[in-house]
Amino acid sequence: MAVLVTGGAGYIGSHTAVALHDAGRQVVVLDDLSNSSPAAVDALRSLTRPDLPFVEADAADVDSVGRTLADHRVDEVVHFAAFKSVSGSISDPEGYHRNNVGCTAGVVAAMRAHGVSRLVFSSSCTVYGEPNHVPVTEASPIGATNPYGATKIACEELLAAEADVGGLDVLLLRYFNPVGSHPSGDLGEDPQGVPDNLVPYLMQVAVGRQERLAVFGGDYDTPDGSAIRDYLHVMDLAEGHVAALNALADGDGPTGCTAVNLGTGTGYSVLDVVAAASRVIGQPVPHEVVGRRAGDIERIWADPALAIDLLGWRATRSLDEMLVDHWRWQQRHPNGYEA
Ligand code: UFG
Repeated sequence: MAVLVTGGAGYIGSHTAVALHDAGRQVVVLDDLSNSSPAAVDALRSLTRPDLPFVEADAADVDSVGRTLADHRVDEVVHFAAFKSVSGSISDPEGYHRNNVGCTAGVVAAMRAHGVSRLVFSSSCTVYGEPNHVPVTEASPIGATNPYGATKIACEELLAAEADVGGLDVLLLRYFNPVGSHPSGDLGEDPQGVPDNLVPYLMQVAVGRQERLAVFGGDYDTPDGSAIRDYLHVMDLAEGHVAALNALADGDGPTGCTAVNLGTGTGYSVLDVVAAASRVIGQPVPHEVVGRRAGDIERIWADPALAIDLLGWRATRSLDEMLVDHWRWQQRHPNGYEA
């Protein structure tokens, strides 16, 4: 039997594929490469097995997904395939909705047709919007602050409705802010164009691809005025997916549809991250505090208790380890996979 990883050539998907392989599973990757590189598949194969099955297809294409489930005797699915840029979603809300909800609907339809019942879904803490209380638990209020977040909420609702009618057991994993790379330095985050996210941008400053980091907002109601997030190592996050599949496969495990936060439970400010990165890299990272970025929230971090209870999973790697590993990847691949 095998596990299908949709979006397995992307940042979190590729790290999860490695973690699943390392945990002894047969992994099949499906990705349309619309926002990822064939070189990521090569890297994935070099870290797992040279013949790791890869299907180039759109997850919204029910026939392709269905054929993949049948051809590889798949009995569990981790569904990542989605667009993930907040700014991209603001300029193209309809395209984001069609892609993200369409892919989830396609995967579910194919699973139903082939009697595959266990699904782990890639969700985000973005579903909590601007929380009125931190840390956030899975029972905290839901509400999107941008169209990308709205697509994650729509997918969660679709999956909850599918689970309600039976035949599907789902874990919705709500990720906080993933950072870092596989320790080999051969698999990592390779954003197309100018990075939106903090650590990829900061690392490009450190290798000279960008001049300086703009710190968005110095007037938040936080100890140093910059915004606070819960950064977690992408390998911890990847291992969280292994734990989630194990829980679903366990006869006493969760049934129906259950949301679980994957975060460390600790918040760091943007300036904390800049200081830690400067230390790790061994040189100051040029930066400048500018105005707030539209749509940003002030602070969020996870209550990780449910993940510990239900999945037996907790994040173990420190902020410094995230940055050491991310920096190794950036130094080995200053221009990303294809350079
Ligand atoms: N930031 C900067 N400068 C940059 C980039 C980011 O100061 O160049 C700041 C942001 O303002 C924010 C923090 O760094 O305070 C983290 O920003 P990211 O863009 O790395 O991450 P976000 O928390 O904004 O976004 C993440 C995910 C999204 C998700 C969102 C939910 O990347 O997919 O969390 O809040 F929607």
